[in-house]
Amino acid sequence: MDFVDFLLARSSMPRLQAPAPDQHTLNTMLQAAASVPDHAGLKPWHFIVCEGLGLKRLGDIFEQAAIDNDLSERDIARAPELPLRAPMVVVITTRLTEHPKVPASEQFSAASCAVYAMQLAARAKGFDSIWRTGPYAHFDQVKQALGVAESEHIVGFLYVGTAQGESPQRSREVSLPTYEQWR
Ligand SMILES: Cc1cc2nc3c(=O)[nH]c(=O)nc-3n(C[C@H](O)[C@H](O)[C@H](O)COP(=O)(O)O)c2cc1C
Repeated sequence: MDFVDFLLARSSMPRLQAPAPDQHTLNTMLQAAASVPDHAGLKPWHFIVCEGLGLKRLGDIFEQAAIDNDLSERDIARAPELPLRAPMVVVITTRLTEHPKVPASEQFSAASCAVYAMQLAARAKGFDSIWRTGPYAHFDQVKQALGVAESEHIVGFLYVGTAQGESPQRSREVSLPTYEQWR
């Protein structure tokens, strides 16, 4: 597929199953993440790749956070199941550096690009994914359990695996955003 067609056809897949990306594909995804625009080369990201027992561990963290934050019984019951919606969940967090020319917002932008790059690389290798956040990305207890400092952020949980059914193909026309042209 032409690269531009590939970009325009990008889509997320919430229904994922095994197999997860193999180690080679995971390395490619991480390389793609490390290839994004990065002001001053600060590498302002960190990745926690969860599979197998790692997904259970993440689910336990979600469950405890749901309890600590007084979520509903239903949410507490559901919390440990959330990471099991894919055979691999990559937690993308920031690793911010004090820099005179690169504020934290720019570093967050670079880390966000890293999530997108991983999604594209996974897709190029035949795997599907969806970028999720939700309340668990913002709970202090989750950050703490994942070793994310208070001043840092969870940029996303990238759920990755094999599409259940056909990979979604964007049939909709990608409409242009409203924009101004200054000439
Ligand atoms: C920062 C960020 C957080 C997101 N969090 C969620 C989420 O928690 N749950 C969800 O269903 N979609 C979430 N999304 C949206 C999906 O990743 C996806 O983009 C959306 O379902 C639209 O589908 P598409 O990517 O195929 O256009 C998030 C997207 C971004 C950029």
